[in-house]
Amino acid sequence: MAHTPFNEFLQGDLKTLESNLRDLLDPHLSEKEHLSLLNLACGRGDETGVLAKLLAEKSKSAHLQGLDIRAPEIGEANSRWKKELAEMKASVDFITHRGDRLLDLAEIGTPDIAFLRHQNYWNDKPVWTQIFDQALERLNEDGLLVITSYFDQEHELATAALEKLGAIQVGSIINPNSRALADAPGKSVDKHLAVFRKKIS
Ligand SMILES: C[S@@+](CC[C@H](N)C(=O)[O-])C[C@H]1O[C@@H](n2cnc3c(N)ncnc32)[C@H](O)[C@@H]1O
Repeated sequence: MAHTPFNEFLQGDLKTLESNLRDLLDPHLSEKEHLSLLNLACGRGDETGVLAKLLAEKSKSAHLQGLDIRAPEIGEANSRWKKELAEMKASVDFITHRGDRLLDLAEIGTPDIAFLRHQNYWNDKPVWTQIFDQALERLNEDGLLVITSYFDQEHELATAALEKLGAIQVGSIINPNSRALADAPGKSVDKHLAVFRKKIS
């Protein structure tokens, strides 16, 4: 399957994301022999290389799993990243599945990190409440849940929903140089980032 052309801003967006995620995670992510990350509602998973790099800085090996309801994006992610990550210490697998049915998937295991880039709580609160709840349930007991958001209000709502589910916010970053989306007024790329724990460690 051919890749959808990447826009001219993608590399810059990913560089900024990498730097902000490193700052966000560094105080909370302990080094481990092996780390696993679940990228929920990942679309085509453009940030997979960034995530693999950050995991490689904290572990000897890593496994990334991506999940989305859109089969074409998942197909594209598998064909791109399985090849690209073969050179790194990471393995990767993308599956087409509903994030609000995460508990049906035994193969997800108990990831160290659940990652939701540009979470979409604003758009469908009941479904995203389920996605958040099931991600927290799946996480390993010392695990971290990380979200990014396009705009202030959706970030505040998602944060409140996660806290209502018992998650504890332990860090956040507002991206002052977040790139505004020309076709979506008021939204900008990775405007907010936040990290949550399942429990106080
Ligand atoms: C705002 S996009 C973010 C995509 C990607 N994480 C990014 O940052 O480019 C929201 C994504 O949520 C996915 N999605 C919506 N409902 C879902 C569900 N119930 N389970 C899994 N994915 C879902 C959509 O297919 C879409 O890819």
